[in-house]
Amino acid sequence: MRKDLSQIEKQKILFATAEAAPYVKVGGLADVAGALPPTLLRTHASEADIRMILPFHPKLRTIALDIRKLGSFKLKSGQAPLEAGLYITSLDGVPLYLIETDAINEASSVYESDAALDAAKYVPFSLAILEACLFLDWIPDILHLNDWHTALTAHALKTLYKSHLQFKDIKTILSIHNLPYNGYGSQVVMSEMGFSPSNDQDLPLWARFTPLPLGISSSDKVVFVSRGYADEVLQEPMGSGLAEYLQMHKDKLDGFVNGIDTKVWDPATDPKLPFNFTADNLQGKAKNKSALQEELGFRVDERVPLLTVVSRLVRQKGIDIVLDALRKTLDLPWQFVILGTGDTDLEDAIRAMAGEFPERIAGIIKYDDAIAHRLYAAGDLYLMPSLYEPCGLSQMFAMRYGNLPLARATGGLRDTVIDFSSSSAEATGFLFEGTTGEDMAYCLRIALEQFKNQDLWPQMQQNAMRKNFSWDHAAEAYWNLYRQLAA
Ligand code: GLC
Repeated sequence: MRKDLSQIEKQKILFATAEAAPYVKVGGLADVAGALPPTLLRTHASEADIRMILPFHPKLRTIALDIRKLGSFKLKSGQAPLEAGLYITSLDGVPLYLIETDAINEASSVYESDAALDAAKYVPFSLAILEACLFLDWIPDILHLNDWHTALTAHALKTLYKSHLQFKDIKTILSIHNLPYNGYGSQVVMSEMGFSPSNDQDLPLWARFTPLPLGISSSDKVVFVSRGYADEVLQEPMGSGLAEYLQMHKDKLDGFVNGIDTKVWDPATDPKLPFNFTADNLQGKAKNKSALQEELGFRVDERVPLLTVVSRLVRQKGIDIVLDALRKTLDLPWQFVILGTGDTDLEDAIRAMAGEFPERIAGIIKYDDAIAHRLYAAGDLYLMPSLYEPCGLSQMFAMRYGNLPLARATGGLRDTVIDFSSSSAEATGFLFEGTTGEDMAYCLRIALEQFKNQDLWPQMQQNAMRKNFSWDHAAEAYWNLYRQLAA
């Protein structure tokens, strides 16, 4: 008998995350969550039943979305049971479930600086993910978890929900976007919700009752967001206290570089740019640069290299290294503009330096997406000396816009930027080792020397712009992993 194709069961995948662009975005995790599930749905529509689940952040109520309530259920907890509401909407064609609890409703932001406040949202959310599956009577084959906020779901499957036979075949993947954020400080809420410390003797003591390590221990596969980062975390200090554990369990680790949305990030069509351009015709890029130079009050001169940064202003991103490197190269004719918000001391340092050198340094201390696009398009060099970078997306945005990255050779930066010194024919940027302003200044001098080379520079810009950074590759890698685990 011939099998009717529509009768063949699709693979059921539930993607759980704390944030998802374009609805709720704080960091790069949102970009991944907003792109990977929709890409998989498009490329494997006939084989995949992919859905997403997110906390019902208050921010979602401010967007015009069609949200329906499906019902509510109780989460077991040491104290009075917690009530959770289940809603549904969609994101780029993917069904998106939302979980509401009092703590999620009352939260002032997606991530709080107080670990206990975050725990009150994400520990119950991790359990609500499983309760939602029971409520919907829709049991995924693959549960794709992300970072510490949902890592406990994998642990709960092996402990609190062990006797639920419906769940016995679920395979779990935990993607790690940032290892140092491990959810430490959730212990009180975890106890209240019935969790107890893991008896995985390989884990260091502190990790046996911490969300992310528990997720790593309980998941079938752990995927870091670049191969380079997956290798680096096997050594301290990059392993954040887990290097030895990760080495022991190397078999279940993998690393896939994220993609970017190449439709949104396309200089040929980007509506946020005053002038569009392509790799074959960079005239529009030059016009974007002059327009920005003029707006910032800088000298309008295409021979003056324009250095750019779009970033959260935090130590991880090496913002202090940038400022130090600039001070050490004041003899060179660069102009510099930085966009972003973050730590007060870094914001203040930028304001002070811009005040000192208004003719060549500008700090735009806010986050503004349209300005970000314009900086990527106008810039000659994109500075990204991150102390560590699990993947990094902005170096890819920059390359798409012919803005060559000057970055630390770490994690995803090493994986995505081809260094000038390794191959000038294929080079897409400049990489340096070391962590000081001195190290970066040395590399900056080399890069600015090349900027004057009118053959090499446009060649490097074209190399960078023609690289394929789309999601296709990573989405396929995840899809193969889903298939492999489900088999
Ligand atoms: C985190 C990492 C960043 C990565 C992003 C998406 O924000 O710091 O390197 O690109 O997650 O995976």
